Amino acid sequence: MVAAPGDGVKRYELHFSRSMQVNLRSDWWIGSVRIPTRVVLAPMAGVSVQAFRRQGRRYGAGLVCSEMVSCAGLEHRNERTLGYLRIASDEHPLAVQIFGSDPSTMAEAARMVEAAGADLVDINFGCPVRKVTKTGAGATCLDDPERAAAIVRAVADAVTVPVSVKMRRGLENGSRTCLDVGPLLVDAGAATLTLHPRSAKQMYTGEADHSLTADLVELVDVPVIASGDVTSRARAQTVLATTGAAAVMIGRAAQGNPWAIREILGEGGEPTREEVVAELILFMRETVRELGERRATSFLKKFYGWYLGRGRFPRVFKQELIELEGLDEVETRLVEAAPGAKFVLTRLEQAHPLLDEVDLDLPISIYGGG
Ligand SMILES: Cc1cc2nc3c(=O)[nH]c(=O)nc-3n(C[C@H](O)[C@H](O)[C@H](O)COP(=O)(O)O)c2cc1C
Repeated sequence: MVAAPGDGVKRYELHFSRSMQVNLRSDWWIGSVRIPTRVVLAPMAGVSVQAFRRQGRRYGAGLVCSEMVSCAGLEHRNERTLGYLRIASDEHPLAVQIFGSDPSTMAEAARMVEAAGADLVDINFGCPVRKVTKTGAGATCLDDPERAAAIVRAVADAVTVPVSVKMRRGLENGSRTCLDVGPLLVDAGAATLTLHPRSAKQMYTGEADHSLTADLVELVDVPVIASGDVTSRARAQTVLATTGAAAVMIGRAAQGNPWAIREILGEGGEPTREEVVAELILFMRETVRELGERRATSFLKKFYGWYLGRGRFPRVFKQELIELEGLDEVETRLVEAAPGAKFVLTRLEQAHPLLDEVDLDLPISIYGGG
């Protein structure tokens, strides 16, 4: 059953706040954690590496998220999974997202996430991918509200940092399950909810229906983050004003494009070619440090199109880079295409050195395999 809307005062406040423009540069709180802006960088599997998160923070994201981390992988001390818990000091505030179906395994994973230094533990109730849903994790949890609440309760009891939940509208098209489950998750201890109002079945097709986000805001007393199709400042303002959400989350629009965050915050426009190339090379170097050269080489290929597309460079240039053997050659070609990028890159590296990764007090080394 859908819970009743909030009391009269809350509705008045919402009505009042919705008629005003939200200052995207204003801070807000998730429990005891201060989030400096209203833009959150989305968790994206295969994208949200440390380089992506650090870059997002530099461009003004108030909160960044890791991609989803398997609680079973953490339980079994899988080397690659543990690697997702590497956090640099300039990423904060940072949420690390976990997924799984068993409350006690999720609680144990949450303890490890907190020990690694995350400011928030985020629970994934949105992943629509079969490999995840068939294990009872991700969006499937929305169809089992009692288990979903048990997971949130177990995680909230296990850690002192705030717990957040990210969910879809439900499994089937047109579903409004999130409005039933959301309040239960808050009762169970969630300090914030992120809603991506597409069904799991939709994957990424159609549109995010933010009228559901507005309904969810009315039902819960915690801040709600609106995720889905926020690609510009105008869209961000509309979503915040019409839903009463505390913040917007930016996903695909920020892939190879941190300038989208800056634009949404009302600063700067399109980058120069030199800036694009410098950011891409910095991203490549940091990713090699994080994943090792071999993994990084294939991981990075999709980023070439994301950075160099959007009319910034001719299409054939991306293809040329993909076909090059090594990352050194890619760097050389990039600098040839925009020689001034060298100076931008030097400035960037000097201004934002990666000084101190947090050394994890975990049972096996996570630094070996890259
Ligand atoms: C490549 C990709 C990977 C994603 N991985 C995750 C994930 O690991 N966890 C999660 O909660 N959402 C994930 N999402 C969903 C995004 O966080 C976001 O909710 C969705 O893309 C809608 O926002 P957008 O329109 O701004 O992209 C992923 C989305 C994409 C495109």
